[in-house]
Amino acid sequence: MSSESNKMWGGRFAMSPAEIMEEINASIAFDKALAPQDIRGSKAHAAMLAGAGIITKVDAEAIIAGLDKVAAEIAAGTFEFKRALEDVHMNVESRLKDVAGAAAGRLHTARSRNDQVATDFRLWVRDEIDALNAALRDLQIALARKAEAHAATVMPGFTHLQPAQPVTFGHHLLAYVEMFARDRGRFADARKRLNESPLGSAALAGTSFPIDRHATAAALGFDRPMSNSLDGVSDRDFALETLSAATITAIHLSRLAEEIVIWMTPQFGFVTLSDKFTTGSSIMPQKRNPDAAELARAKVGRIAGAFQSLVMVMKGLPLAYSKDMQEDKEVTFDAIASLKLAIAAMTGMIADLEPVPERMRAAAGRGFSTATDLADWLVRVLAMPFRDAHHVTGSIVKLAESRGCDLEALPLDAMQTIEPRITQDVYTVLSVENSVESRTSYGGTAPQNVRKMAQGWLACLELGSKSG
Ligand code: ARG
Repeated sequence: MSSESNKMWGGRFAMSPAEIMEEINASIAFDKALAPQDIRGSKAHAAMLAGAGIITKVDAEAIIAGLDKVAAEIAAGTFEFKRALEDVHMNVESRLKDVAGAAAGRLHTARSRNDQVATDFRLWVRDEIDALNAALRDLQIALARKAEAHAATVMPGFTHLQPAQPVTFGHHLLAYVEMFARDRGRFADARKRLNESPLGSAALAGTSFPIDRHATAAALGFDRPMSNSLDGVSDRDFALETLSAATITAIHLSRLAEEIVIWMTPQFGFVTLSDKFTTGSSIMPQKRNPDAAELARAKVGRIAGAFQSLVMVMKGLPLAYSKDMQEDKEVTFDAIASLKLAIAAMTGMIADLEPVPERMRAAAGRGFSTATDLADWLVRVLAMPFRDAHHVTGSIVKLAESRGCDLEALPLDAMQTIEPRITQDVYTVLSVENSVESRTSYGGTAPQNVRKMAQGWLACLELGSKSG
């Protein structure tokens, strides 16, 4: 006697699966997240079957109305997902039979769970790419707004985390706007390649029914049907590509998060976060911890792990479908949810964060950060070769260091002991303000550049037009 657990293939199977078989085999606990996409796909398939004369219009209408009912139950949380029914596809179809009657049995004509799941998962990933794109745009807007407000706020720029040259806070923030733009570009590229329909590939070889794959592709918003049915059911490169873009995005987020953590330390004291984005300590009353930044920094672990995990699942799999591919979902779901959360938290933190310009300014002046400006002055005014200027500047820095003062505070006669041709004019380039203002080269840190760039970004982003 066939039990409920094998009613889809009870013709050949006499016994229920072993408990442990059911446990390893079932995916319903997680693939129920695909229910909306599964139902969208089934509705398109049913409409196409009727359009092609493969099932009657009456049956198609009953199926579509039934699927809407099932969707409503799922949305309302009243749907009972059953592990014995293995996955989302069979759970939905089984319930459809209850609500739509005999017509439900015709839905699976010219279709397999293999092309069904490939279609559902593509639709899901596509929906998530769209959500990520919108979330990244919001983050870029938050960054660009802050950048515009702080186009002239001076801070130290670092290399090796050592003070290098002064930059503006706005310039620093806009660097991330650029990174997230490329991330959006990568997601958009992945979306383009992903946007072909596997539906109608059937189990692997296609079908003898006169289906219209172009119709289902169009109904589901795909650009075209995939051209090879074996490929249609067996590749998950679209998920890999999305996870790879997600990993790179998460890396960018982790760098920004790390900077917030550093900037928040009392030693730096460059920024403050309000109570909304910090936590206290249960034992140390003075503490204000940037937990959200730390967690955003850490999420990359899961996301890069998901990419790696799916790479290992797919490696060496023979064509076409293998059950291994069921392992594509949990990691992808988790990675995308983690990324969305990290982006949203970062967006909130950027809006919340306030720089402390005095601290940034003071730090920018330390560490002889205008030494390059001095060397450039020697090149420009005294026509020295840059290598010689570098050497002379090094000696002047050494002198300032021995006197325990900044370059700006070193008297002219002291500098002249190293290079007698230096004049009073040199002081015009030694302040951090003059230093940043002089960096007007395209893409440089000069406040007027930064303001223009920030405004340009905001104009594009607020129109929603700049995706890459
Ligand atoms: N739950 C399965 C998956 O996620 C659906 C496809 C099952 N196909 C099959 N031939 N058993 O991959």
